[in-house]
Formats: sequence, structure tokens, C-alpha cells
Amino acid sequence: MTVSIILDVDTGVDDAFAILYATRNPEITVLGITCVDGNTSLKNVCKNTLQVLDMAGASSIPVAAGANEPLMGTAGDLGDASHVHGGDGLAGLSSPGSSRALDSRHAVELIRDLIEGSKDPVALVPIGPLTNIALFISTYPETAKKLERIVLMGGSASGGNVTAAAEFNVWHDPEAAHIVFNSGLRLTMYGLDVFYDLKVDQEHVKTLREVGSVSANFAADLIEFRLQSLGSEMCLGDYGAVASLLHPELVESSVMNVVVDTSQGPGRGQTICDARPEAPELYDFRAGKECTVILKVDADAMVKLWMEQIR
Ligand code: RIB
Ligand code: CA
Repeated sequence: MTVSIILDVDTGVDDAFAILYATRNPEITVLGITCVDGNTSLKNVCKNTLQVLDMAGASSIPVAAGANEPLMGTAGDLGDASHVHGGDGLAGLSSPGSSRALDSRHAVELIRDLIEGSKDPVALVPIGPLTNIALFISTYPETAKKLERIVLMGGSASGGNVTAAAEFNVWHDPEAAHIVFNSGLRLTMYGLDVFYDLKVDQEHVKTLREVGSVSANFAADLIEFRLQSLGSEMCLGDYGAVASLLHPELVESSVMNVVVDTSQGPGRGQTICDARPEAPELYDFRAGKECTVILKVDADAMVKLWMEQIR
């Protein structure tokens, strides 16, 4: 199975894992990558993404800058995740910086042009806050309907990471997430229910060091950075959304109605996933639109697939 995808990223360490895999896997055609404010500033995200493409030895894939703040503006204590990904958002590995240039188009225009220009079905894979995706859907709804699907890393049916209720990508821009989850487009949610399952440790670092290529050593450096703060193991995170698209046989999911809490209360940014069985005789109100929620993955197989590509 080969797939054509557009990645929307807030590179970040685990976004880098996804980009390395997607750009090195011959079964995936990365049509383009769009950048959004999230883990770190938009400027850092763009620089980091170009740097990762160099480390991947990738071809000249168009990379465009998108939104530099959430739809409703950077509200108050809204933070980034530099404490997780390092001050530059890439474990201190963003230097020296790539000689690649950003595409002159805004992210929304690049997404539109890539979909309209593709003869093959296109999947959109957002792995950061959904600001660019919301802007794209709102600006070009007819082009958005041409998407084969959206497979996003975000949300959770089982509690948050930034707050008790909310996962970071949705929490960072809940209004954008609402627009995406309420769009009626074919949507798959790779959320926290599986996000932490794809674990790697020092043994994987050792194997990557033995491979010794630029991409393998870069991946090893990223893993070791996270192991320093997390201890014995860490997860491949965002990469799992790409693996789920390419290998649906490794995934178990359930179709649920999902609605995003955009209130200003303690639930802000929660993806409320309605897992109740059908019982129209008891109740029939189901908020939100249908979404395929991934609840289980074959983590060992997915980690093995990732290691095989990072050569
Ligand atoms: O909650 C995890 C998500 O937030 C990941 O995409 C990570 O890169 C950050 O963007
Ligand atoms: Ca991310």
C-alpha cells in the first residue's frame, strides 16, 4: 500500500520521529509539510522541520509556514512545550540550520494546491495544534472534501496530559480543534489512549548507533535527550499517527461522536468521546460528529517498523 500525505507539524522531538519515518519510507509520498505554532514558536518549528529533512536526507519537499498563534490569540498562560522538547524545540539539535528555503506560500495555500494538484488520494496528517487545518477547512471547504481522510495526533478518550482533561495539541487551540472535529470530514484520532505505547529505550539507541548513519545518529540523539529527563524509556509519539495510516492492520479503533470543550473552564480542550452503546430508548442526544478513535495499537510492530526505516 502506498499513500500520499501532507504533514502538519509543530516540530518537536516526536514530530521529528514522524518526519524521519515518512520521508524515508518508500511506501509514503510526502507531498508537503506545513508548520504551526505549538511545541515551540513557529519560527523554531520551521527551522527544525527543515533541519530534520536534512537529517533524513529527504528530497526537496515543500515546507510552508502557517499560523504563529492559536485562532483566538495566545491566551494568557497558554504555554509551549519547550520544557519537553528543549529551548529550540529540537533537543538543542536545531543548529546549524538547513540551507533549504521555506515555500513562499502560506500553509493553507500549500495544502490547497497540493490536494488540487494530486492525481492520487491525499491524506492529511496533523501532528500539532490544528490551527492551520481549521483555517484550511474554513477557507477551502470544497478542496477539503477531496481529502481521502485526516489522521491526526491529538485528543484523548482517557484524560489529558497538559491538564487532567486536555491533550496538548487540542488544548493549545481548542477552537481550531472544534472546527476540525465538527467538519464532517473522514477523521481518525490517534490520541493519548495509544500515544505513549510506542516505547523506545537505551537498547534502541545502541542499535541506532551501530547503524551509524546521519539519520540514525540524529534519532539516537533525540531519544537520548528525552531519556535524560524521563529516565529509562520514552515514546515515539507523533510517529504513531503515520504508522496507523499506513498499517491499519496494527490498529484497533471504535467510531464515536467526539466534541471539543471550548469553554474557559477546567475541561477546556477536552475531546469528549461518546463511547456509550446505542440505546435510543434511553437517550438519543449525541453531540459532535463521528470520528474513528484509535484505542489500541500493536506497539512492538510499530516500533520495529520505525527502526527499520531509520537506517
Ligand atoms: O500531546 C502530545 C502532542 O503535543 C505531540 O504532538 C507533541 O509533539 C506535542 O505537539
Ligand atoms: Ca507534535
